[in-house]
Amino acid sequence: EMTTEQLEERVREIKEKLGDKLFIPGHHYQKDEVIQFADATGDSLKLAQISAENTAAEHIVFCGVHFMAETADILTKRDQKVYLPDMRAGCSMADMADIYQTERAWTKLLELFGETILPLTYVNSTAAIKSFVGKNGGATVTSSNAEKMVRWAFEQKERLLFLPDQHLGRNTAFNIGIGLDEMAVWNPIKDELEFDGPIDKIKVILWKGHCSVHENFTVENIHQVRETYPEMKIIVHPECTREVVGLSDLAGSTNYIIEAINASTSGSAWAIGTEMNLVKRIIQEHPDKQIISLNPHMCPCLTMNRIDLPHLVWCLDSIDEGVPHNLIEVDELVAENAKKALNRMLEQS
Ligand code: 13P
Ligand code: SF4
Repeated sequence: EMTTEQLEERVREIKEKLGDKLFIPGHHYQKDEVIQFADATGDSLKLAQISAENTAAEHIVFCGVHFMAETADILTKRDQKVYLPDMRAGCSMADMADIYQTERAWTKLLELFGETILPLTYVNSTAAIKSFVGKNGGATVTSSNAEKMVRWAFEQKERLLFLPDQHLGRNTAFNIGIGLDEMAVWNPIKDELEFDGPIDKIKVILWKGHCSVHENFTVENIHQVRETYPEMKIIVHPECTREVVGLSDLAGSTNYIIEAINASTSGSAWAIGTEMNLVKRIIQEHPDKQIISLNPHMCPCLTMNRIDLPHLVWCLDSIDEGVPHNLIEVDELVAENAKKALNRMLEQS
């Protein structure tokens, strides 16, 4: 058993030894014990762009979740290796759309709507889903460019299928003026469309997936904050439900949230609806502001939390020893089409 100090020392040692050959991107939801060693931090869009631009690193140790490491593998050169320090760091939302369900849904939707439909997928999805979307002319989106990408999709086709987060899809479509009565939900468990009304009215089909972290922020939480702290501004991530986003003052990606708080004046008060590690860090960084979590029972992302200091050291050690663990290698054919979907997004960003 190594102490925290020894583990930290080991990370520093390997980082120094490997220099530019090693690159550690870290998502905002990662723990402090890990994020302190990140060479770059960001939301999913920024980390995807940074990975695409970094041509020098031989080893990319991704501190985030599985789909992010897959994205990095797809966007980087073939001889660059991508690692995920703990393979159990998945994403429950990404797991809510598997490729077989998606292909069955697509067949049904083509029967209903013909060639009028385009698929879009949140980057929080498996490489296989991105590949499916790329093959069918669609693109990926992240929470920071979803509006732009949904507008782009409507320039190509009359309707769209939005995978796998119904809330980001609904919030984004709503923001660009699509009515809630023009949105249907695809239920992948029952293989059926949930909609009452004439189907030619449908403009957006939302995949019935969600983020188990952001669904924990409720209308009840909002009322509580409004009552207790009437002057407080409420800011949430668009993975929260439409009701929660509708009752909040502001909604946006993790980067948007960070920037909004940074730009606010000293003494301002905020309730934040997003992942716990990020909220805690924002609170620490702004001692001059009154900041709380929108849900008093702070919500961690359990899979993000799987990446901890011991796993980081274990992964780095294996690289140092030349017998690397936890390589992420997306199948070449899958990667080729997934890259099309990602590039359509990166070209717009
Ligand atoms: P962003 O980093 O794009 O805001 O996404 C949040 C998230 O849930 C990542 O898993
Ligand atoms: Fe997935 Fe939600 Fe965790 Fe992000 S916060 S990795 S969407 S479960």
